[in-house]
Amino acid sequence: MKAIQMSSFGGAEVLKYVDVEEPVPNENEVRVKLYYAGVNPAETYIRQGGYAFFEPELPYIPGFDGAGIVDAIGPGVTRLKPGDRVFVASTLARRKTGTYAEKVVCDVDAVYLLPESISFEQGAALGIPATAAYRALFHRARIKPGETVLIHGASGGVGLLAVQLAKYIGANVIGTAGTEEGIELVKQSGADIVLNHSVANYLDTLPSLTHFKGIDVILEMLANVNLEQDFTYLNKFGRIVVVGNRGSLDFNPRLTMAKEADILGMAVWNAPVHEYNESLVAIEAALKNGGLKPIVGKIIPLKEASRAHIEIIESKAKGKMVLEITKS
Ligand SMILES: NC(=O)c1ccc[n+]([C@@H]2O[C@H](COP(=O)([O-])OP(=O)(O)OC[C@H]3O[C@@H](n4cnc5c(N)ncnc54)[C@H](OP(=O)(O)O)[C@@H]3O)[C@@H](O)[C@H]2O)c1
Repeated sequence: MKAIQMSSFGGAEVLKYVDVEEPVPNENEVRVKLYYAGVNPAETYIRQGGYAFFEPELPYIPGFDGAGIVDAIGPGVTRLKPGDRVFVASTLARRKTGTYAEKVVCDVDAVYLLPESISFEQGAALGIPATAAYRALFHRARIKPGETVLIHGASGGVGLLAVQLAKYIGANVIGTAGTEEGIELVKQSGADIVLNHSVANYLDTLPSLTHFKGIDVILEMLANVNLEQDFTYLNKFGRIVVVGNRGSLDFNPRLTMAKEADILGMAVWNAPVHEYNESLVAIEAALKNGGLKPIVGKIIPLKEASRAHIEIIESKAKGKMVLEITKS
């Protein structure tokens, strides 16, 4: 089968389009013929080597997320059968052969049914982004219906799904994006208010826009840039979840005292298995009953995965980036 494989750590050029043997499912594993795979910033960090959460053995086929059809099952699998439409979320799977490939094998626990109303490219947008959005909102911030959440960086893979999940449970949602196109997508996802984080002083209107009720929860996609300023708008006893961060900052810890606020780290890699599986059951249900409708942005052919790795870091987000593996 065709796959993207890397034989060394390094820049995007280490990703090669090659022929590899088809993986075979063992006990409690399934094989999925993939139509699309999700591209996540984490896969670029892993590609460079030294990523704190995951350092694969080489050669390595990247990718944790995808969607397609079950084409083989191993002994002991009863929940799924060949022909089922599914999405793959294999971040925490014991075995995961990589979704940047025509077929992937992973634990059955990493594979969930995709309703007919959700396309394969939308299914590939779930995995890491959906489990991260769920974990940040519910397992870390413990957000409640009626609270106000700022999704600081809402136009990308994690942000758009976080907006949808927060709206679904009855939160008031403010999102930010850096382009007009991104702003439209955040609105389409149901945000009550959308601000442009590329414009100077864009948060100045936040108090009046929230009728001076303030913000209870912030999901932060770029903490090194925004964390200190977030405290201006956070309510007493508020929670900030650090989802994304690309550097360090000069920060005054006194800010946390004044508001008895919590700064909570979040990494899907740390999720206890029961919480991770719980999030996937909730995601599967939200897809089925209309609570989640992933928005796909750029679709890039599998063989151009190296371009996808450059663009996911360098270009503005306009929905979730996916790799097209086979036309559905
Ligand atoms: N902790 C975890 O377990 C976990 C899981 C998944 C992702 N992440 C991290 O979370 C971040 C987002 O992931 P993703 O998959 O959504 O990536 P993505 O699809 O590339 O989206 C990046 C998001 O960050 C926004 N952004 C850019 N500048 C910003 C600023 N100054 N303030 C606030 N937001 C800003 C982008 O907005 P514009 O492009 O519209 O400007 C976009 O919404 C990445 O750093 C990723 O590594 C962490």
